Amino acid sequence: MKSSEFTARRTQLMAEVGQGNIALIASAKVRTRNRDVDYTFRQDSDFYYLTGFNEPDAVAVFIPGREQGEYILFCKEYDEKKALWEGAHAGLEGATTDFSADDAFPIDDLSDILPGLLENKAKVFYPMGRDASFDHQLMEWITHIRSQTRSGINAPGELVSLEHLVHEMRLIKSDAEIELMRFAADISGNAHIRAMQQCKVGRYEYQIEAELIHEFMENGLRHVAYPSIVAGGKNACVLHYVENKSVLNDGDLLLIDAGAEYDHYAADITRTFPVNGRFSAEQKALYQLVLDAQFAAIEEIKPNTPWNNAHDVSVDVLTSGLVDLGLLTGDVTQLIKDEAYKDFYMHRIGHWLGMDVHDVGDYKINDQWCVLEPGMVLTIEPGLYIPKNCLKVDKKWRGIGIRIEDDVLVTETGYEVLTQAAPKTIAEIEALMN
Ligand code: GLY
Ligand code: MN
Ligand code: MN
Repeated sequence: MKSSEFTARRTQLMAEVGQGNIALIASAKVRTRNRDVDYTFRQDSDFYYLTGFNEPDAVAVFIPGREQGEYILFCKEYDEKKALWEGAHAGLEGATTDFSADDAFPIDDLSDILPGLLENKAKVFYPMGRDASFDHQLMEWITHIRSQTRSGINAPGELVSLEHLVHEMRLIKSDAEIELMRFAADISGNAHIRAMQQCKVGRYEYQIEAELIHEFMENGLRHVAYPSIVAGGKNACVLHYVENKSVLNDGDLLLIDAGAEYDHYAADITRTFPVNGRFSAEQKALYQLVLDAQFAAIEEIKPNTPWNNAHDVSVDVLTSGLVDLGLLTGDVTQLIKDEAYKDFYMHRIGHWLGMDVHDVGDYKINDQWCVLEPGMVLTIEPGLYIPKNCLKVDKKWRGIGIRIEDDVLVTETGYEVLTQAAPKTIAEIEALMN
């Protein structure tokens, strides 16, 4: 991502924050995995969106109209020894030259400098409630400023959610963001192809997970956007199954929900296919129904359409299909009203996608579903899950879990499926696997 993209975001944010106010946001922290081993660092998405700065121990401050510079970055000072052991870090000089901060200060001086920046500001925009220790710290600074009112210094009177502003910006993806998402989607789609090709009766779910990771890593995508779900047979009916340790049985389906992250942007793809390469009659019937629901839902993706239309259409298609197949009985309209489908389709059609897999952005405002706009990216992921112990339906359907998930960009005229690489029709899947 070019630095001009980050600059443009900050300019937009400054305009919304407004003169006389201040915004601040802290970086993510390094988290301990065990004893002295850390989890791989992942920057906070909002922080990265505004700064492009990929280090922990940093705080970004935005002060519209400040003469000595509007954008201040507190970060670690450059340390030769640290560079030798842990690798490069920007330091104060890098913060200004490489990351376009107008001013940079050592993070250790935050408590000395930040209260002065808060003085006489009306509103403080910051991500409230995200980090209890930061919340506490900010309150202390503000309380301290309040104690000085007799010397003519005013403390900020309003705390405002910064997320609201940033998340509205993040909801609409720029061309540069879409390029990154397209790449994450392509590689992730290829990983699903590899999984289909390498799937064999008797292999283990974790071995197929390894095939996915191989494709991600081989292409430089070192991180998954979320833990991969590799669920054979009835495991697919556990929506967040991530144990991935069962053997793959002849005659079962395999549901894989996996996507890589590329430069902080996620792909999120689900494919379901037969372990032995051929769908049984029951699997075929349910799979085609989910696919029909997915195609119908995707057709609802266009500007000015309420977000929920896609969900409603998926419910219509799935409910009438379940009646046709005999898994539900009754009048379709009444069954929809009674939410009878929820026994088998218990989640919603999808979610916003971006830097976070379940990305930021409102779904409803004032009780109205948001309407789609060009540049939004969302998943469309209908599914049917017939639990092994579901006595309501004929035995032949039990233990089948199917989801089909694609990432869809809203365009000026309709939609573009970003995750086309991964095949999903019955004919395409069987041809690839045989
Ligand atoms: N992979 C998480 C989801 O599909 O929502
Ligand atoms: Mn999803
Ligand atoms: Mn998914």
